[in-house]
Amino acid sequence: MRAVVFDRYGPPEVLRLDEVERPVPRDTEVLVKVQATTVNRFDTATREANRRSGLAISLLSRLVSGLRRPRQRVLGTEFAGEVEAAGAAVTEFAVGDRVFGTTGLKFGAHAEYLAMPVSARIAQMPAGMSFEEAAPICDGALNALTCLKQADLREGRRILIYGASGAIGTAGVQLARSFGADVTAVCNTKNLELVRSLGADKVIDYTQEDFTKNGQTYDVILDAVGKHSFTRSRGSLEPNGIYLPTDGFANLMWALVTPRLGGKKVLFQIPPRQTKQDVLFLKELIETGKYRPVIERRYPLEDVVEATRYVETEQKTGNVVLTVSHA
Ligand SMILES: NC(=O)c1ccc[n+]([C@@H]2O[C@H](COP(=O)([O-])OP(=O)(O)OC[C@H]3O[C@@H](n4cnc5c(N)ncnc54)[C@H](OP(=O)(O)O)[C@@H]3O)[C@@H](O)[C@H]2O)c1
Repeated sequence: MRAVVFDRYGPPEVLRLDEVERPVPRDTEVLVKVQATTVNRFDTATREANRRSGLAISLLSRLVSGLRRPRQRVLGTEFAGEVEAAGAAVTEFAVGDRVFGTTGLKFGAHAEYLAMPVSARIAQMPAGMSFEEAAPICDGALNALTCLKQADLREGRRILIYGASGAIGTAGVQLARSFGADVTAVCNTKNLELVRSLGADKVIDYTQEDFTKNGQTYDVILDAVGKHSFTRSRGSLEPNGIYLPTDGFANLMWALVTPRLGGKKVLFQIPPRQTKQDVLFLKELIETGKYRPVIERRYPLEDVVEATRYVETEQKTGNVVLTVSHA
């Protein structure tokens, strides 16, 4: 089958299409004929061994994905497609079912076929969705959910989401609203209307206003794009406020210390616990009209390098989808 492979860490140009062995599903797995996948920040960070995040994080990244060269040659976490074959012990899915999900650390979705354990993060596609729409359901939303679950969001709680226009941010706004919270979303001028349409109660244009200086305070601040910090946001948190980062070594340190001190704290789940139940929860949110992944661009799988270069600008709105054609 065709897959996008990489044999060394480096720039987007290390990615290339190649012929690889088609996976054979085990008894408890299904073989998915992938119709759409995505390029997300997890793919780009892993491909360059998290070089941009500094030496310590890069070393940690290599310990996970291969010290000298990548252990897993095929990237891609999110997928949507059809069940092509099912292992003997599989009862949840049948050949022809339309499914979506995420492989997480195992990657492998930038390929024509993918073997997925049925107990992993895979579910039937929500009714009425195309493969392209279903492929980006998981990445931003599961990352947002991992953060938001720690913050007891409900009616009467006020959250500010910084970087509301990315994959995590656009999902975070919708999830926080679905929990009943009052949402203030911070983004660039060009995305104000979009985040408002996703359900934000208030929007702040970061090119016009610094939220840390307007005197408002929040129960929760989610930095959905890894560009802010606890120290800069502290004054905008209520006395027992919670700061939820998605990135940053300093935030990790604060997350180890602040929960022991009382008062304002940083919460960062390590490792993130994302389950099949979470994927089923997202499916339910979609079916009840409370969540829909935002897609900015679509590329054919063959243009993975171009798609990756775009994701690496760190300026995508929502998600970037790759469509997979089968000869
Ligand atoms: N996706 C994952 O699998 C994953 C997993 C764990 C952690 N993370 C981390 O989580 C963060 C977000 O991931 P993501 O996938 O949501 O990112 P993303 O989709 O690439 O985020 C891009 C968005 O962020 C906005 N942005 C860029 N710079 C900004 C700034 N200074 N202030 C406010 N907004 C800014 C961009 O819009 P404008 O530039 O136009 O404002 C763009 O809409 C990253 O730091 C990533 O490393 C990601």
